[in-house]
Amino acid sequence: MRNIVSVCRPLALPFHKETTYIKHMKKILVYPDEILRTKAKPIKNIDGELQKLIDEMAETMYKAKGVGLAANQVGVLKRLFVMDVTQGEDGKRGELVVLINPKIIGCEGQEVMEEGCLSVPDFSAKLKRPATICVKAFDREGNEIELEGSGLFARCVQHELDHLDGICFVDRLSPIKKAMFRKRWQKIRAEKEQKV
Ligand code: NI
Repeated sequence: MRNIVSVCRPLALPFHKETTYIKHMKKILVYPDEILRTKAKPIKNIDGELQKLIDEMAETMYKAKGVGLAANQVGVLKRLFVMDVTQGEDGKRGELVVLINPKIIGCEGQEVMEEGCLSVPDFSAKLKRPATICVKAFDREGNEIELEGSGLFARCVQHELDHLDGICFVDRLSPIKKAMFRKRWQKIRAEKEQKV
C-alpha cells in the first residue's frame, strides 16, 4: 500500500492544484438570462466576503480570457465589475482594475469599436459609444478612485456598467442588426447544444 501512495503522489499534486483553481471559478451566465436583464444594487459594505467575490470574479475573467466581468454575469446583483485591459494576448495578466459602485462623471467624443461579451460567446458587433470617459468608484480596499481613459479602457467601463444596469451590448444594436443577431444567436446556441 505504501508503495502505491508514493507512486501516486507526483500525480496527485497537480490534480489538487487544479481542483483548488476550479473551486474559485464562477459560472458565467449566458444571454438572455434574467439576471443579465436586472439592475444591480449599490454595495454598502466592502468587507472580506465582497473581496472574496472580487477575487473569484477576477480568476473567472482571466480563465475565460475576458477583458472585463460584471457581477451580474456571475449571478450576483451588486454594482461591481473587474477588468484588465492591459493583459497580453498570451494570457499574461496586466493591471487588474476593480470598480465598486462606479459612476461615469464625464465623457467626450464618439468612437465605433468591435465589442464582444463573455455572456454572448462567439458573437461580436460594432457599436458607437463615447470615446473618452471619466469614472468615479471605490476600489477593492474601499478607497475612492477616479479614472480617465479612452480606447479599450473607455469601451470596457461602459460595457461593464451597462451590465450593472441590466443592459447587454446586443441590446444597443440597431433594429436591423438586432434582428440579424437574434437569427445568428439561435444558430450559435443550437450548434452549442448539439456539441453537448
Ligand atoms: Ni459583457
